[in-house]
Amino acid sequence: MTDDLRKAVEAVLPSVRADLDALIRIPSISADPGSAEVMRQSAETVANLFRAVGSPDVQILDDLEGGQPAVVAHYPAPPGQPTIVLYAHHDVQPTGDPDGWTSPPFEPTVRGGRLYGRGSSDDKAGIAVHLAALRAFDGKPPIGVTVFIEGEEEIGSPTLGPFLERHKDKIAGDVIVIADSGNYDVGIPTLTTSLRGLVDVYVEVRTLNHGVHSGQYGGAAPDALTALARILATLHDEDGNVAIEGLVTAKTPEVEYPEDRFRAESALADGVQLIGSGTLAERLWAKPTASVLALDTTRVADASNTLIPVARAKVSVRLAPGDDALRARKILAEHLANHAPWGAQVTVREGDAGEPFALEASGPAYDAMRAAFREGFGVDSVEMGMGGSIPFIAAYSANFPNAEILCVSAGADPDTRAHGLDESLLLADFEKAAISEALLLAKLAR
Ligand code: BES
Ligand code: MN
Repeated sequence: MTDDLRKAVEAVLPSVRADLDALIRIPSISADPGSAEVMRQSAETVANLFRAVGSPDVQILDDLEGGQPAVVAHYPAPPGQPTIVLYAHHDVQPTGDPDGWTSPPFEPTVRGGRLYGRGSSDDKAGIAVHLAALRAFDGKPPIGVTVFIEGEEEIGSPTLGPFLERHKDKIAGDVIVIADSGNYDVGIPTLTTSLRGLVDVYVEVRTLNHGVHSGQYGGAAPDALTALARILATLHDEDGNVAIEGLVTAKTPEVEYPEDRFRAESALADGVQLIGSGTLAERLWAKPTASVLALDTTRVADASNTLIPVARAKVSVRLAPGDDALRARKILAEHLANHAPWGAQVTVREGDAGEPFALEASGPAYDAMRAAFREGFGVDSVEMGMGGSIPFIAAYSANFPNAEILCVSAGADPDTRAHGLDESLLLADFEKAAISEALLLAKLAR
């Protein structure tokens, strides 16, 4: 059976690769305010792909104000069979400077066994893996399948709450596969067992009613950027540990992440030290982190010996499993407001919040997935945490507490550069992921 199914997946892979290329050509940047039309086109393309693989019931769900279109495709369960939900997202991050890419971000290009393009791995490969598994069964999987392709993952799933309230029944299942994580290393199938949460806060600091001459008034009147820098400096202690009181630290994960590997994979510049304390696995997966993501202030080219009156920053905090996003966001906002120097006026606006999650990596579907990975990759799978966030997971678990949740990769290895320039997908591992998922569907049939 394994061999037949492997051959069936291999036979459909060329067509799936062509479909993946077509998906990468659609610039489905959910964060772009002008993207409504292209997001719609992206959802329609996804919907048509699953319609063409035999789903009798494909819907585009886009009835929530401020949301992005999601796609749901049903393959009804044969009598007595369980239903599995296959999750991915069709929206992508902005490209950054397109000139910084070796080949244009929305032109799928293969170099050295990797498929380059925005969304190639995060997360259009996830859609393609699901497509491959279904196509290998000629659209008639042995168990019930519901494909759920979200359209707003990369903007923090702003309408997830109301979406689940309204459409929950459409994505019910006994098992869900979230194909949106990464593998521990090339060729190593990986079960992600924890993800961090994420909260954003915008802080604005004002010290002057308008800019004034830096020589005439500087020395006694503080500029806003220096005041903001002092606030931001309080996010960490001298060693780089997060110094915001009250955030949760989770229990230490068992996998080790060697420091030399981390240095290479994180693109750390020469001489730069690692920050924080504890093992790398602890720092990356079990502890909170604080980062300054952006500043609004005077550009260097526009500097004019003027004291800056007002400056803004976007501060991002990742949360360890076990923390509570809304509580943590409030703690962060208060920390920033309470650390203003020199009576500077500080306004804090709370941004997005997504919950962290620790997965219970056991049960019949986990057994089946481990066996499918062993056959699909030829090696045993490993378990690890992930520093990134997928807020949908905690929300799904809250709504379907009995569902087994599997969080896997569609072929993203550590050099995938998701969200960065030259994002790419390792095609060899993509193919193994597709074979593994088809095997999983077969193994779950009673
Ligand atoms: N696929 C990523 C999550 C991820 C990142 C998994 C790295 C494994 C390794 C996902 O699409 C993502 O980037 N999520 C956002 C969520 C946010 C907008 C709430 C993130 O982590 O920044
Ligand atoms: Mn993703």
